[in-house]
Amino acid sequence: ESAALLKAIIDNAIDGIITINGRGIVESINPASCKLFLYTPEEVIGNNISMLMPPPYKEQHDEYIARYQRTREPHIIGIGREVTGLRKDGTTFPFRLAVSEVPYAERKIFAGFIHDLSREKEAEEQLKEYA
Ligand code: HEM
Repeated sequence: ESAALLKAIIDNAIDGIITINGRGIVESINPASCKLFLYTPEEVIGNNISMLMPPPYKEQHDEYIARYQRTREPHIIGIGREVTGLRKDGTTFPFRLAVSEVPYAERKIFAGFIHDLSREKEAEEQLKEYA
């Protein structure tokens, strides 16, 4: 059945996948995201996605979403961005964020795809030392 197949794919994805509603509240989070951010699903679902980012984004993220809904002008949707994530233990890490708007059951949700860049960034730093 296709819902079960989709769940199996999301549960086993290498990249993090998180969905939020139009107010930025987390509705789902897959195991890869939990591993990256060091949270359990229960600790994140129902809370604002801003809990997973450092300042100044944390304070501004609701407005980013509101502005998009007002203007329909995308800054990340369909474009992507390298951003910084905040783990439960207070450490941060770089990742490539892709966001898509998903029409779902008469409303619009947003799906975020999280590709960890920690290793690439570390390698880049190491190369710089030799340059
Ligand atoms: C917009 C940062 C995670 C959904 C933005 C913008 C920033 C940002 C800076 C505005 C860009 C601009 O105006 O130039 C972050 C950071 C994240 C994060 C640091 C780290 C956790 C997410 C996730 C989702 C998401 C996981 C979806 C599940 C959105 C949406 C917008 C937005 C819907 C507005 C649409 C747009 O600008 O295209 N975010 N974000 N964000 N973000 Fe995030």
